[in-house]
Amino acid sequence: MPTDTPPNPETSPERSSGELIRFEQVTKRFGENTVLDHLDFSVDAGKHVTLIGPSGSGKTTILRLLMTLLKPDEGTITVDGKKLFPASEKERREARKQIGMVFQQFNLFPNMSVLRNITEAPVTVLGMSKDEAVERAKGLLDMVGLADKCDARPSQLSGGQQQRVAIARALAMRPKVLLLDEVTSALDPELVAGVLDLLRDIARTTDITMLCVTHEMNFARDISDQVLMFDAGRVIETGPPEQIFNEPENDRTREFLSAIL
Ligand SMILES: Nc1ncnc2c1ncn2[C@@H]1O[C@H](COP(=O)(O)OP(=O)(O)OP(=O)(O)O)[C@@H](O)[C@H]1O
Ligand SMILES: [Mg+2]
Repeated sequence: MPTDTPPNPETSPERSSGELIRFEQVTKRFGENTVLDHLDFSVDAGKHVTLIGPSGSGKTTILRLLMTLLKPDEGTITVDGKKLFPASEKERREARKQIGMVFQQFNLFPNMSVLRNITEAPVTVLGMSKDEAVERAKGLLDMVGLADKCDARPSQLSGGQQQRVAIARALAMRPKVLLLDEVTSALDPELVAGVLDLLRDIARTTDITMLCVTHEMNFARDISDQVLMFDAGRVIETGPPEQIFNEPENDRTREFLSAIL
């Protein structure tokens, strides 16, 4: 094989073509409480970035801003060069299509079958044909090990199964970015490993950019290219996981890690 063959951008997990997410001087307040304080950070395409930091430091707020569930008070947020804030509704909708999220509490639609949970947004938001959406949903359910649960309702599944459906639902939108907010913290301990293994597989075999909030430090070590430590609305330390977990430089990071590890 010629050595100068360029990597296939569709399949290569090595792909990295610059910044995919950019926060510039983002401030978010709730009343008197300044949660994000002129926050700057960026995530390169294809990278897996973990956010750590004390409770209340603004980790979920960052993900909710990216999901456009909240608006910043100041600053700009761009995704794949498209403006998310400030932006027109149309621009925001376009930018938002690049992003999928999995929540701590699964947030499946309780009155829809598992299959419909996955096909709904591709059909209504992306305009995918129903046949294609169903075919892709079945493929994703197979991937997450739930091919036999198409017709079940979420309430008939275990927490771990519901979370795997939620992951399939997020992937069905073919996002460039997957946001994961403590996705195993509501699960019974014996169900955690299966969900983390699935996410490890996704990290290894796809080129999806991941922005992940987790207290599972072994998982964070395994999948992260970069760890961002937050405190009081700012990034106070960043680096590869070996550095942040083994040789943190900031006192606050050391204190935080010694409390949770
Ligand atoms: N909708 C809201 N209204 C008012 N205050 C809010 C709202 N959402 C978050 N906050 C406040 O913003 C701060 C940051 O919350 P956030 O949920 O981002 O923290 P976090 O880092 O995700 O914490 P945890 O690790 O506990 O999940 C907290 O002080 C919280 O009380
Ligand atoms: Mg949170």
